[in-house]
Amino acid sequence: MTGRLTLFDHAGNIVQQDAEPLEFRGKQYRIAKIMPADEHYFGLGDKTGGFDRREQAFRMWNSDAYGWQESTDPLYKSIPFYLSYRAGTSLGVLIDNTWPSSFDFGKTKGDTFEYRADGGPTDIYLLYGPSAKHVLENYAWLTGPTPLPPLWALGFQQSRYSYMSQERVLEVAGRLRKDRIPADAIYLDIDYQDKNRPFTVNIQTFPDLPKMVAALHQDKFHVVTIADLHIADLPKQNYLALDSGIAGDHFVKNADGSLFVGPVWPGPSVFPDFTQKKTRGWWGTLYEPFAKAGIDGYWNDMNQPSIFNVLKTMPNTVMHRIDEPGFCPRTATHQEIHNVYGMQNARATFDGQLALKPDVRPFVLTRAAYAGGQRYAATWTGDNSATWNHLRLTTSMLKNLGLSGFSLAGADVGGYAGTPSLWLLTKWIEIAAFQPIDRDHAEKGTGDHEPWAGGPQHEAIRRHFIEERYKLLPYFYTVMEQGTRTGLPLLRPLFLQFPNAAADRHPIDVDLAAGGEFMVGPDLLVAAPPFPDRANDYDAELPSAGWYDFWTGKRLDEGSTPTLTGDTLTVAAMSTILIHPELATLPVFVRPGAIIPTEPLVQSTVEKPVGPLKLRVFPGPDCAGEIYQDDGSTFGYRRGEYLRMRFTCETSSRNGDLAIHIGTHEGRFPAWWKDIVVEVNGLKKNPTSITVNGRATNISSSDQNVSITAADRGAGIEVVVHQ
Ligand code: NOJ
Repeated sequence: MTGRLTLFDHAGNIVQQDAEPLEFRGKQYRIAKIMPADEHYFGLGDKTGGFDRREQAFRMWNSDAYGWQESTDPLYKSIPFYLSYRAGTSLGVLIDNTWPSSFDFGKTKGDTFEYRADGGPTDIYLLYGPSAKHVLENYAWLTGPTPLPPLWALGFQQSRYSYMSQERVLEVAGRLRKDRIPADAIYLDIDYQDKNRPFTVNIQTFPDLPKMVAALHQDKFHVVTIADLHIADLPKQNYLALDSGIAGDHFVKNADGSLFVGPVWPGPSVFPDFTQKKTRGWWGTLYEPFAKAGIDGYWNDMNQPSIFNVLKTMPNTVMHRIDEPGFCPRTATHQEIHNVYGMQNARATFDGQLALKPDVRPFVLTRAAYAGGQRYAATWTGDNSATWNHLRLTTSMLKNLGLSGFSLAGADVGGYAGTPSLWLLTKWIEIAAFQPIDRDHAEKGTGDHEPWAGGPQHEAIRRHFIEERYKLLPYFYTVMEQGTRTGLPLLRPLFLQFPNAAADRHPIDVDLAAGGEFMVGPDLLVAAPPFPDRANDYDAELPSAGWYDFWTGKRLDEGSTPTLTGDTLTVAAMSTILIHPELATLPVFVRPGAIIPTEPLVQSTVEKPVGPLKLRVFPGPDCAGEIYQDDGSTFGYRRGEYLRMRFTCETSSRNGDLAIHIGTHEGRFPAWWKDIVVEVNGLKKNPTSITVNGRATNISSSDQNVSITAADRGAGIEVVVHQ
């Protein structure tokens, strides 16, 4: 008996092996595992540093990390889940222990992974793939997938700390519309409140919140208000959040039974005991007046919890009560609860929205999280900085968040701390247009970050990218819906999609050249520069040959066609493309074999698109696509009110004809379109004819593509491009 665990696959290969026996020192313990030299590690949420966790160490302790930099750890979230990845084979490891702990991927001891916890019981889940996709599916099964968000959450969101008055909010919203910058949400940061007290409104500066919200709704905006968890300790002042919380015994206490009080934005504050079901229920009711005022979403910030004291949070000795079905009622120290506290806050908010509006999909944005937090809230990477390096870091942070269950994630566009240079803001808006949460946000005292900052030349570029995002929303939304079933994130690393792209099957995202790259769903590859501030040419890595330029539809090379099995390349067929970076452009490529649904431009997701659905067909192996639609806000889709269509295409080896199959309408939700435009890219020569359901049709062609329009009656369409 060695006391060491070895995990084998069915074929007898070692998947994971302890380096040393489990070691205990009082309440603390250590797990040590062998790190094969060619193994890579991903996950752990948005912790910064490189994308691969190898040779880095991280602490799990949710922290308010204002001013964080590349080397800062810990940050806001503790997600004790990672994927090991070796030559295409992946294992997911969830070490479910909420106590302070650390993950050291060979930083201290070269080839040994060490996990240490300060105490607490631990459940370890080993999720064998062998593919990384399968690991994520298992992880979603275990901790819950990111639910389908309201469609507007995928639109452009405008925020600032703070728009100081009702007039200013309306002015910013009006300017977005006047300048025709598509946008869906506007945020109210803490200053809309009376002296920063959660669940109040400053009636001097926001004299009529419901009226303002109604005007914004009229203008097709959604409104998100911040709702922090620190309740101002103002007894006997008719402060409902405090009085009702005291009456229901909902706040955490010191070991001696007195209320724990700590200073935050509103001054001395008390903190809800979210590990009690009844407290979460009470918290949810606090939103009622805001729901009545029409607020569409809530932003739970400062929920590490942040406290303006030396510890920056509660002392470990503060007591929480655990009291809910499935758990033995008991008290627990803050040391144990700290890392799940923010998630329980988001959970209370999410459940509260459902209780208030049972048929509306909640939108909650949280800063702190634990494994499984994706069930309740979208997230962002906290207080980043307006620097090129922070723009660079965003990509790997969002990839790792996606691999940790959070499909709905973003970073403050433009950078929170500081004022971005005009080109930095422009480039950030370009890249963020392809990231799941696209929220422009900035700290108090910084210069303007809105898309018009710096004048019309920059504004035109920024508008163009936001418009492209809006045209792609059918694709984004379809991928989000797929993720609710597969656990796959919207923004994902290349290796997840193409594990065998390199001959040695290493994850190509770790290559220097691929440092700025990420996939949006299975088909789009954004090849942002690895160092976005540098003007030098760079090689972007594509997982195979035959990719297309998203902007022109042109096929990049007519070279060898890779062999695909499923969406996995079976031969090493990676190719590179030399990019001359320009500040006003962003290289985006399309997988050969993709069929991407796009919509006519709208200014808000509230608008129904006018015109046809466009399918952009990029012929290649395993040619397929899909569109998913529903009303974008309710749970009607669970009652059959959705629309799904599947698309495939194949090229005949006999005569080169390309057949495109457009599936029937599945579900009862009506399509906005009557016609479908089928745009075929990458044809080697002009087609002799195109038939729709066997009949010849009019072709319109340009240098890059040909397109036809077909009426869609929901019964399926066959388009054949004759060569
Ligand atoms: C900290 C958050 O990270 C930031 O986004 C917000 O603007 C400020 N708190 C003020 O609420």
